[in-house]
Amino acid sequence: MTDAELIAAAREAALEAYAPYSRFSVGCAVESVDGRVVTGVNVENACYRLGVCAEQSSLSAAQLAFGLNNVARIAVAGGNVQAGALFGEGIVTPCGGCRQAILEAAQLSGRDVEIICSSGDGQNVERHSISTLIPNGFGPANLKDAG
Ligand code: THU
Repeated sequence: MTDAELIAAAREAALEAYAPYSRFSVGCAVESVDGRVVTGVNVENACYRLGVCAEQSSLSAAQLAFGLNNVARIAVAGGNVQAGALFGEGIVTPCGGCRQAILEAAQLSGRDVEIICSSGDGQNVERHSISTLIPNGFGPANLKDAG
């Protein structure tokens, strides 16, 4: 899948987000090493702190579909939904918690997972890798000395 196609999958997923409180809809698409793609959205809750980010819900889908150890690339996009389309100029980069969740998959897969970050309208894009988004992170590899 091309970068543009992965972004399109994330933007399309965002249309199904459940974000009545923030009204900021996020979609995430996770691609496996062999080209399979799963998506996820943010799912908010009336108890605000219980909301789940799109990256985390898509990583749950990825674990089920092909395993976190096979994650290769991720695209994320977010903004506001109007008339069935996603808008917004600001680029969405994963929050700190989501970076940590992506790091888990990255260390399991042994890959520096690429994260394509898009604005809601798909016009503004930045490419990052997990090693730049969370340098010197603590992941499963750091637990090697556990008893
Ligand atoms: N959100 C995500 O889904 N992913 C991120 O990386 C940033 C924030 C969601 C959480 C909340 O539902 C809404 O966007 C506003 O913060």
